[in-house]
Amino acid sequence: MRKVYVSMAADLIHHGHLNIINEARKLGSVTIGLLTDKAIAKYKRLPFLSYEQRKIIIGNIKGVDHVVPQETWDYAPNLIVLKPDYVVHGDDWKKGIQSKVREKVIDVLKQWGGELIEPEYTKNVSSSNIINYIIEKGTTPELRMKKLRQLLEIKPLIRILEAHNGLTGLIVEKTKVENNDFGTQEFDGIWVSSLTDSTAKGKPDTGCVDFTSRSSTINEIFEVTTKPMIVDGDNGGLTEHFVHMVKTLERLGVSAVIIEDKIGAKRNSLFGTEVEQKQDSVENFSHKISQGKKAQVTDDFMVIARIESLILKAGMNDALVRAKAYLAAGADGIMIHSKDSGGGEILEFCQEYSKFENKVPLVVVPSTYCQITETELQKAGVSIVIYANHLLRSAYPNMVKTAETILHHQRAHEVGELCMPIKDILTLIPGGK
Ligand code: SPV
Ligand code: MG
Repeated sequence: MRKVYVSMAADLIHHGHLNIINEARKLGSVTIGLLTDKAIAKYKRLPFLSYEQRKIIIGNIKGVDHVVPQETWDYAPNLIVLKPDYVVHGDDWKKGIQSKVREKVIDVLKQWGGELIEPEYTKNVSSSNIINYIIEKGTTPELRMKKLRQLLEIKPLIRILEAHNGLTGLIVEKTKVENNDFGTQEFDGIWVSSLTDSTAKGKPDTGCVDFTSRSSTINEIFEVTTKPMIVDGDNGGLTEHFVHMVKTLERLGVSAVIIEDKIGAKRNSLFGTEVEQKQDSVENFSHKISQGKKAQVTDDFMVIARIESLILKAGMNDALVRAKAYLAAGADGIMIHSKDSGGGEILEFCQEYSKFENKVPLVVVPSTYCQITETELQKAGVSIVIYANHLLRSAYPNMVKTAETILHHQRAHEVGELCMPIKDILTLIPGGK
């Protein structure tokens, strides 16, 4: 019996998959190289079904004899072990980002005279259409909340972008780019920032936008998105108030709250020592974390402790001592903040943190040290990177320019190139017609 190898994610099975398996079984005994959750998440979104669930489904399809894990998009490691006579794949991968994987398959098969068979790609079937349909169906608070922990388990680096209303939520939800080296790239989740939530309301980031108002922004974003959300909880307020915040956020389906170890009048961290900002005692803040953890109902919600020692120039040692204490208090993640433009102090913290015996995911907000790449942060041990203010910061200058241009010219003709066409805004949100 000849050996046939077919690789697939098999997350949403459709007749295109069955056509391929049918072609493959005509050639011999079929082994499916089932992409692992990690492999899928590296270049695509989180699979809807886990590896084990997908394995049960694909293993029960007529014509499938074996299922083995394929840990990378590169087939080579499995091919070298299995030495199949044939690899079968739809001919759609000749173009686009998969073409490099294809070339390598051909090269590796040559070593033992194996052959690549490429049946015609099944027309009128698209996993992306099915995925869009599922996404448009929406989500539930419980499903959404779990997603952050699921992502942390399978993705080495999670990428989060700020949203401050429904429209920016949609941008985080839907924006995708194709990248030759990295595959399809998108954001994994949404950050609700105290800075941009209050600035979008024309208010300073001093805590004057209260939690009821923050909840309404969260709801507005949740109405139109399915991705997980991390909320900026400022310092969480008094401990007895923080426990209520945890319950409210968890009930809404928020995945994590980040609270900062400061007390007194709230000022944005990026002012650094230009304004008076005071750090909480290790004992008080640890107590707040542990009370917050006790308040949550599920195991999914996360309380992330944000350390302000580097912002307040209290030193690296203070930051590390606090990280240990907050971990002991039950923090599910540590966010280390810095406004150093070189990024040296963040990398130094990461290096020291990597030596800790017990670790939780490390979160960073590279607003000032923005030249450091995601790959460098990941190598340093960072698990979550938050782009905390960029959608609002990029929109504002364009809006001011538009306003000024209308005033200068006393008509709107000259702002045409700054604006999207009327037709596009009418159809930007489907369902308006
Ligand atoms: C925010 O986005 O509101 C934050 C991050 O808390 S920072 O503005 O850098 O303090
Ligand atoms: Mg904030």
